[in-house]
Amino acid sequence: MRIGILTSGGDCPGINATIRGVCKTAIYHFGMEVVGIHSGFQGLLTKDVERLDEKSLSGLLNMGGTILGTSREKPFKKRDLATDMDKPGEIVRNIQELGLDCVVCIGGNGTQKTAAKFADMGVPIVSVPKTIDNDIWGTDFSFGFDTAVSIATDAIDRLHSTASSHKRVMVIEVMGHKAGWIALYSGMAGGGDVILIPEIPYDIKNIGDTIIYRLKKGKAYSIVVVAEGIMKGDKKRAAEYIAQEIEYETGIETRETVLGYIQRGGSPTSFDRNLATRMGGHATELIVQGKFGRMVTWSRNEISSLPLSEVTGKLKAVPEDHDLIIQGRRLGISFG
Ligand code: F6P
Repeated sequence: MRIGILTSGGDCPGINATIRGVCKTAIYHFGMEVVGIHSGFQGLLTKDVERLDEKSLSGLLNMGGTILGTSREKPFKKRDLATDMDKPGEIVRNIQELGLDCVVCIGGNGTQKTAAKFADMGVPIVSVPKTIDNDIWGTDFSFGFDTAVSIATDAIDRLHSTASSHKRVMVIEVMGHKAGWIALYSGMAGGGDVILIPEIPYDIKNIGDTIIYRLKKGKAYSIVVVAEGIMKGDKKRAAEYIAQEIEYETGIETRETVLGYIQRGGSPTSFDRNLATRMGGHATELIVQGKFGRMVTWSRNEISSLPLSEVTGKLKAVPEDHDLIIQGRRLGISFG
């Protein structure tokens, strides 16, 4: 069999470990041929591909980013009037011309949606969930998330010393798109006193009361962790809005940090490396079993898979009764 592999959407640590898991299992265990497709679905439009072999696959386990490159190309988006190109049709033709028996798509929600549409057209597709946001339905975790949480937690740890020295409130904004998973996990791990996520509306007065209460108890500084997707008034950045509101509400000097793309850089954690290896290998197993149109999942500590039709169009938001939230409230942490 000859399979293609592509990476699409925002990059994150663990993609190369997944490429390694798919390709080495395919080549060495199942005797397949593997073709790397560059820049996501764009590479299928332009047939921008390369044969992947032992040399191209070495050193990938701990390497950040993606050796194939990525893009946010959405072939099913409204037709490109300039070229009036039928992108999905062009891609189906190119998959046939390249002689691909299956395409492995590594990506987030947008990629899963595109993969599902190609699967509905009869294209043999298997997908692997990828995103630091951890907002993909059907899988408990996606690789990239644990690494982003570790990076954010380290950053939060570092804010405690400067907040304490200056008796300030420090606000840090983490990524997560429309979900609050990174803020919840890193806020709890980093000892945040206030954690704001899109799934729980906040009242700035409650936040002010928490900070003043801490002050009265002799805690002269506070750490506030906010997800980028929360309500942010007229500001571009949630951290800027929340910092301004806190300083106005409490009169305490407040500063903000936007962690940004650092959460998507560098080497994956051991958890993400092993999750990526497991998911990559399972994707190849699905191909051998002819089980197409499915996304690999990690559910209750087991590798499995779900039909793409069950996964797409949904957002895995943080449930308000998540055990970390319940436990956080018991510790006196404010969720807004
Ligand atoms: O989906 C991953 C992510 O980093 C989100 O957390 C963030 O909102 C978005 O990508 C940023 O998109 P871009 O890389 O296109 O700026």
